Amino acid sequence: MRQPNNGRGWRAALTAAVLLALVGCTSETVETTTATTTTTSPATTTASVEVTEPTDPGDGLAGSAGLGDPYNPTAGNGGYDVIHYDLDLDLDVATGALAGIATIEAVALEALASFNLDLYDLEVSAVAVDGGAAGFSADDGELTVVANVEPGSTFVVTVGYAGTAGQIAPDSVLIPNGWIRSQDGLFTVNEPDGAATWYPVNNHPSDKATYTISVTVADPYIAVSNGLLQEKRSAGDATTFVYSSDDPIASYLTLIAIGLFDEEPEAGPQGLAIRNYFSSDITDVERRYFARQADMIELFAGLFGPYPFDSYGSVVVDADLSAALETQTMSTFGRGVLGLGEAVVAHELAHQWFGDSLTPSSWQDIWLNEGFATYAQWLWAEHLDGRPTLEDKVREAYGAMSGLNLVTEGVSPELAATRAAQQFPPPGSPPLDNLFNSSVYQRGALTLHALRLRVGDPGFFELLRSYATAYRHKNVSTEDFINVAEEVTGQDLDDLFQAWLYGSVVPSIPDLDLAPPG
Ligand code: TRP
Ligand code: ZN
Repeated sequence: MRQPNNGRGWRAALTAAVLLALVGCTSETVETTTATTTTTSPATTTASVEVTEPTDPGDGLAGSAGLGDPYNPTAGNGGYDVIHYDLDLDLDVATGALAGIATIEAVALEALASFNLDLYDLEVSAVAVDGGAAGFSADDGELTVVANVEPGSTFVVTVGYAGTAGQIAPDSVLIPNGWIRSQDGLFTVNEPDGAATWYPVNNHPSDKATYTISVTVADPYIAVSNGLLQEKRSAGDATTFVYSSDDPIASYLTLIAIGLFDEEPEAGPQGLAIRNYFSSDITDVERRYFARQADMIELFAGLFGPYPFDSYGSVVVDADLSAALETQTMSTFGRGVLGLGEAVVAHELAHQWFGDSLTPSSWQDIWLNEGFATYAQWLWAEHLDGRPTLEDKVREAYGAMSGLNLVTEGVSPELAATRAAQQFPPPGSPPLDNLFNSSVYQRGALTLHALRLRVGDPGFFELLRSYATAYRHKNVSTEDFINVAEEVTGQDLDDLFQAWLYGSVVPSIPDLDLAPPG
C-alpha cells in the first residue's frame, strides 16, 4: 500500500534536524523518560515497537488509546485535551511525499507517564515533549509518547514525521478517508477518521482545538486550508501558505486542498469574506451553483443566528469524488457532487452552524449534523419557491423512509414496511458500519419538520437560534438539543423525539396526511 521512500529522504532528514534543534535550544527541562527512543518500523511493515516502562513512573498513568466511541473505539485518546495544533507540512504533489512537523499544545487531565496520539502509516522520526526528547513507539494508528506530565499542566508535544499521502478505510463509513488525488493536485477528506493520515491528532470530535496550518508546495500549486490566509512565503520554486483559525475546529473538519485553482472572491453579507477556489477545469455552469452563497448565508443567519466564523468559501476539486464535506470555513466539493446543484452548496454551508460550530461529542449523534443540513437545504428551497416546494421535499423523503414509495411501485404494504425498516434504521442510532446512511439525512430532516409542525414556526426558529447560540463553538448531544427545544417551547417533546429518532417505524405526519404503510 505504501510507496517506497523515493525522493523524500531529505525531507525526513530535515524534519529530524529541525526537531533536534528544537530539542537542543530549549531551556526548560522537564523530566522526560528516554527509556526507549525508537524510530518506527519501516512504512512497509506494521511491526510493533515495544516501549519499556519508564524508570520512574511516578503517579503517572498511561493515557488511554481511545475514547471508546463505539463507531471507532481507538479514535481519540484519554488523559489530555488539545488546545492548539501548529502543523507545518511539505507536500510533493507528483509523488505524494509528505513531511511534517506538528507542534501540539495540550493540557493534561491527569498525571501521565505516557499518552497517545492517533497517526496512521506515517513514519515518526522524533518526538519532543516541552523541548526534551521523548521516547515513542508507533503501531496500528497509535503513536505512544513516553513522558511524565503533571495533572493540569500545559505541555507541548512536537512530532517530526514523513511518509506518503495515503488513505484509510474507516469501519463506520463507505467513503475512504485521507488523501485523494485530483486531476491537478491532492486533497484530504477526514470525516470521520482521516485527520490521522496527515497529522498526529487526538482524533475525536469531542476535543476541538485551534489550528495554524502551513503548507509548502511547489509553484504554481495553491494550497488551501481552514481559516484565514495569514502569509504566503516564497522560497526557491516553492511557496508556503500559512492559515490560522482562532475558532476551535474538530479534527474531522480540517483540510488541505492543493491544486491549480482559480481564486474567486465573492462579497459576503456584512463584510464577511467569501473566497472560492475552483479547479481551473470547472465549467461556468458548475461555478454558478456557488453564486448565491452570500444570499444563503443571509437566510441562514436570519434563521439560525449569526454566521459563526470569520470567513467562508468553497473549494471545488476535479476529482472522482461524488461527495462534499463541510470542512470548517472552507467546504470541499468533489466535482462529481455538483450534479446536485445548489442544494449541496446550501447543505455544506448550513453545516458551518450545525456540525462545525456545534459539533456532536459522539458519532452516534451524527443526525445533529446531517439531519439539520438536509433540512436547511429544504429551507433554502422554501425560501426560493415557497412552502409547497418544502412540502414536496418532505413527501419525497417520507415516501423513501417509510416504504410508501415501494407501495406505489406495487409492493405490498407489509413487505414495504419491513424493507424500509431494514434499509433505513432510526436516525438516532445509526448502524456501526454505516454511520452516514440516508436515514440520518432524510429521517433526521423529517424529525425537524415534525418538530416544526408540533411547535409552530416562531417556536421552531427560536429554538434553533437558542440552540445555535448556546452551544456556539462547543460540543452537543441529542439530549442538549431536546432540552433546548423543551425549554424554549415549554412543551414536553420526549414522545416526538423518541418516536422519530429511535422508533423502528417512521411516525405519521397527520398535517400532511402521511402515515407509514401496513
Ligand atoms: N458530511 C458529509 C456531508 O455533508 C458526508 C461525508 C462523510 C463525507 N464523510 C465523508 C464526504 C468523507 C466526503 C468524504 O454529507
Ligand atoms: Zn452533510
